[in-house]
Amino acid sequence: MSDVPTLQTIYAAQERLDGLIHRTPLVANRSLSSWAGRELRFKAENWQITGSFKVRGALNKIAELSRDGVPGVVTASSGNHGQAVAWAARHFALPARVVVPVTAPSVKVEAARHYGATIEPCGERSRERLERAQVIAQETGYAFVPPYDDPLVIAGQGTIGLEILSDWPRVDTVLVPVGGGGLISGIATAIKNCRPGVRVIGVEPEGAAKAQQSRRLGHRVELESTASIADGLITLALGHLTYPLIERYVDDLVTVSDAAIQQALWLIMTRMKMVVEPSGAAAAAYALSARPNLALGTSVAIVLSGGNLDPMHVNLLAKPPSATPEAR
Ligand SMILES: Cc1ncc(COP(=O)(O)O)c(C=O)c1O
Repeated sequence: MSDVPTLQTIYAAQERLDGLIHRTPLVANRSLSSWAGRELRFKAENWQITGSFKVRGALNKIAELSRDGVPGVVTASSGNHGQAVAWAARHFALPARVVVPVTAPSVKVEAARHYGATIEPCGERSRERLERAQVIAQETGYAFVPPYDDPLVIAGQGTIGLEILSDWPRVDTVLVPVGGGGLISGIATAIKNCRPGVRVIGVEPEGAAKAQQSRRLGHRVELESTASIADGLITLALGHLTYPLIERYVDDLVTVSDAAIQQALWLIMTRMKMVVEPSGAAAAAYALSARPNLALGTSVAIVLSGGNLDPMHVNLLAKPPSATPEAR
């Protein structure tokens, strides 16, 4: 197996996932296209099984682990990756353990438990949880499933790139949110190897601009702290695998404010009747807050990466956008 995801491993992932997960639609919307001054289409991974794109990478990875005969899988995540691993493990009849922070919202923990995982609360910091997951792996022989820095996980996420190209041949730009970088490095590997002329742009919260800073400084930067309402994007650093892929394939890295993300949540809910979570709306926030004359292409695909909005945060949807032209 290749140490780096390639177009071939992404095609292999596509075959493996075929029929197991949803082929999510690329949804057109006239109202938001006119708001943004260009044609926008939205890749609805908020409607994916488990509510996010994460199941693509988890399923691709766990399929291989299951073939290798591992006794079970373990991961450390309170969010979408934990749910995806729980779902994918159940599909292959493997036991799953998910280490979550003691502060994790009960709805997310319940979702992973509902998919059959054993939940293990541990500490508040991600380092503690990772260490605990490694200990579990050593004690049980379970395989650790990384959230983003793994060739099979990245290849699984890359299948989104193939679907966008096939559904919209004249797309010229693809906007993707960036956390640890697994989603965008998979999509960019797929797109640049099929259609190098299509631009791939990564979107980060202003309070978690690790990819943008890494590019600026020419090396993989680890931030001291991050903050944003987009809880899936506040990773401190890109991965060792994802960083070079992003440097090679991603054309541009931009940031959005939390206010722009909140405006996007509101616009997507009211104009598209779709619920997305803040991390899932970050790429849309860039297109919807960019000035119409900004060079962003004319046919822009936007990855709506997740829909698991915590019901405790539904108040985020209650803030209408400013109607002033400057807000656009
Ligand atoms: C909804 C959502 N979007 C985007 C991301 C970022 O994905 P990655 O860490 O692969 O960059 C995450 C990560 O958890 C997520 O949950």
